[in-house]
Amino acid sequence: MPTGNLDEDSAAQSAETVRQLRALSTPPGAAALARAAALLDGRTDAVTALSRLRAEVGVDLAGPAWGIARQREKARPAFGADADRLLFTGDTLEQAGRPALAARRAGRLLDGGVRSVADLGCAAGTDTIALARAGASVVAVDRDPVARELTALNVAALGLRGVQVRDADVVDLVATADDGRVAGCDAAVLDPARRAGGRRLLDPDRWSPPWSTVLALLDRVPRCVVKVAPGLDHARVPDGVEAEWVSAGGSIVEALLWGRDLSTTWRRATLAGAGGAVELTADTDPGPAPVGPVRGWLHEPDPAVIRSGLVSLVATDLGATLVDPTIAYLTSDSTAGSPWTSSYPVTDVLPFNLKRLRALLRARGVGRVTVKKRGSPIEPETLARQLRGPGSGTAVVVVTRVAGAPTVLVCGPPS
Ligand SMILES: C[S@@+](CC[C@H](N)C(=O)[O-])C[C@H]1O[C@@H](n2cnc3c(N)ncnc32)[C@H](O)[C@@H]1O
Repeated sequence: MPTGNLDEDSAAQSAETVRQLRALSTPPGAAALARAAALLDGRTDAVTALSRLRAEVGVDLAGPAWGIARQREKARPAFGADADRLLFTGDTLEQAGRPALAARRAGRLLDGGVRSVADLGCAAGTDTIALARAGASVVAVDRDPVARELTALNVAALGLRGVQVRDADVVDLVATADDGRVAGCDAAVLDPARRAGGRRLLDPDRWSPPWSTVLALLDRVPRCVVKVAPGLDHARVPDGVEAEWVSAGGSIVEALLWGRDLSTTWRRATLAGAGGAVELTADTDPGPAPVGPVRGWLHEPDPAVIRSGLVSLVATDLGATLVDPTIAYLTSDSTAGSPWTSSYPVTDVLPFNLKRLRALLRARGVGRVTVKKRGSPIEPETLARQLRGPGSGTAVVVVTRVAGAPTVLVCGPPS
């Protein structure tokens, strides 16, 4: 997706993509999409499928229909049944958030009394759709004509009302936001583009719109939520702004900054699952957890807890201590039974030494290990291969630092 000024070539390319999207939204286009999906489901190879499609639906529709069918296949795990009604380009699908999380954010905005929301950088419309479904009236803004077309067509395909799609530069809109409102709305969702040329942009000043616009929005529109990179430095979070890290399946899936009128705490860790969310909050910095010697159980905190700086809350809850002041592994005398940690029974603690470790595992009949590491340069897959042996037993090998020293904890399977 272009993030700079559209030059002539990319403007012509965008115009052509818009024309194709419109063609796919006609009844013959819908028939071409259905046929492309059937060929894809039937695992017909791309060359054969395209030549059949060309013969059946015409050259003009065949290529675009095949492209969309492939994006829909990729979108299905996250978008479910909607995927087969929505249109995406490769770029907009790559930039799309998870619809379930967009719905959660929309719910919190509306619970905060918000009625109209500006989706500042709508791409294919994931947030716009979630907001409209939650009952908000939405102004969906993007400077990219393909994004605007996708959002308009997707909203129409789902039969949603109350959405206006607008061409504007978010930087200008935010700079002129006034009286807590932007683009005529009383709240905003901002999801800056954080990739360029297929790479993550680690420097927030290079996001589009850049960090200065994120700060301006948080200042000028106190009912807003901004999606940021999970690695965002805490020092960047302005006072009075709640920062939330959301994880699912053991990985961080999004990080959010909530505007001052919607913030209800200092930091929040959220575990999002199929059955709903579990949350942990702190109104002030809880500080570091205490450090102590390795005990019978090792606990690996969920990444949302680690990123949000709430490890010490979990430690207090479990009566646990850190194995090292710089490493987010906790230890205690018993298993945790907490949604915030995976717990492993520790059988051995030894200094890091490959020969000794291999001998110990052989003596125990362990032939396969899962290697985990924190604060160590080792390559887990390589070490797991090096430790493979004839035994039928399994173990979890944790390579870390304990009180500053490179250490291995041999553990049983997680409880
Ligand atoms: C990360 S995507 C948004 C993804 C969307 N929230 C979703 O989940 O599908 C960012 C969007 O912002 C748009 N954008 C970036 N800078 C912009 C600017 N200065 N003005 C308007 N739109 C902009 C891009 O074209 C892109 O469509």
